[in-house]
Amino acid sequence: MARSAYALYEDAPPVGAAPVDLDPFSRDFLSDPYPGFTQMLDAGPVVWLSAYSMLGVARYEQVRKVLSDWETFSSARGVGMADFVRHGRFRLPSIILEVDPPHHTRARAALGKALSQPVMRRLRESFTAAAEEMVERLVTRGAFDGVADLARAYPLLVFPPALGMRPDHVDLLLPYGDLVFNSFGPANDLFQAAAPLAKQAFPIIEDEALRKNLSPDGFGCILYQCADSGDVTEEEAHKLVRSLLTAGVDTTVNAIGAALHALARFPDQYAKLHAHPELARAAFEEALRFESPVQTFFRTAAKPAELDGVQIEEGAKMLMFLGAANRDPRKWDNPDAFDIERNASGHVALGAGIHLCVGRLLARLEGEVVLAALAKRVKRLWIDGEPKRQLNNTLRGLASLPLRVERA
Ligand code: HEM
Repeated sequence: MARSAYALYEDAPPVGAAPVDLDPFSRDFLSDPYPGFTQMLDAGPVVWLSAYSMLGVARYEQVRKVLSDWETFSSARGVGMADFVRHGRFRLPSIILEVDPPHHTRARAALGKALSQPVMRRLRESFTAAAEEMVERLVTRGAFDGVADLARAYPLLVFPPALGMRPDHVDLLLPYGDLVFNSFGPANDLFQAAAPLAKQAFPIIEDEALRKNLSPDGFGCILYQCADSGDVTEEEAHKLVRSLLTAGVDTTVNAIGAALHALARFPDQYAKLHAHPELARAAFEEALRFESPVQTFFRTAAKPAELDGVQIEEGAKMLMFLGAANRDPRKWDNPDAFDIERNASGHVALGAGIHLCVGRLLARLEGEVVLAALAKRVKRLWIDGEPKRQLNNTLRGLASLPLRVERA
């Protein structure tokens, strides 16, 4: 295989790292990552990806170790394949995702306020009403596309106004997110196809995140209130709103899509949800574990380190397979079973450690109200045509999911 421009270990893997000859960003792998996950899980605690001459971890224990040790495994050189120090940056840096403490701590505190439990409580009623109304309309139709008509339509309906974004450029959010999440991988054809949008999308998203363009009652403005009280600067507040516009939509779209897909594939699990709509939150959580809508993120070794006997050089990139860790049989009983009554807590679909998803309460609120609305109205649902995958270097999701439903 051709030597990658990203390679750190030019000739051979470090001692103890198990070589694995697969490309985790190829179309084949992204279409069906599970055989590759098994290969990596079996290979060893630390693997060496010959396609990129790069280290990776797939097992639950090691993924959590890397996520939890930010002092060794830094985010500040980028959580994508490119090392900011050696390769530069494709996009403006995130001041939350791609920084370490102490910079991270301040930004995180402000975001924690914008996406807090009280903010979620205020949103619950309108989010629930929107889900009920949307699902009711779809159930009346009897057949619909689970992705276009629900998994995409719902977050696009509720997220922008909740944040305080104007409606003008809402249609740009998904392609923009697709581009950014593709940019965390190599410069392959998926990235090349998405990249031309950058010129148009980046300035628009920058503009939408400005204080003057946000509605004062959205949670985006809470970040500007943090600027007013001196917790962050005005410029930082702007960058944090931008991060929410980047991270807040494609992720939930793919998570809701994954939940619908799994519930349609496993009718016994849907029957449980229909009988007990209060399981909606647990079903969403299990869907996160089962499909891991965000599949991978990278870290960079900030200093020479050792992980399970493997010596890691300063500057080495480390690819974490969240999706594989969530299917690791060392951690999960019967990991390939979708079981909405299992205790899925501890999954790493939302990360772990200091970068644990700060939008998780919002994601869970959206997932829960959509699945509860469905559970109350629909007795049975079927896949009514071939689902189509949407490939992305980081996200796992569907482009379409034809569904048919029977009203309860
Ligand atoms: C189910 C949907 C979601 C999934 C699967 C998901 C997944 C993740 C993961 C895996 C991380 C950790 C990144 C890392 O360790 O490098 C993360 C961080 C983050 N997420 Fe989410 N996310 C979701 C929804 C959201 C939403 C709705 C928002 C915004 C409203 C959001 C905003 C963020 C931000 C800003 C970070 C960076 C946090 C930090 O670095 O401290 N996410 N997310």
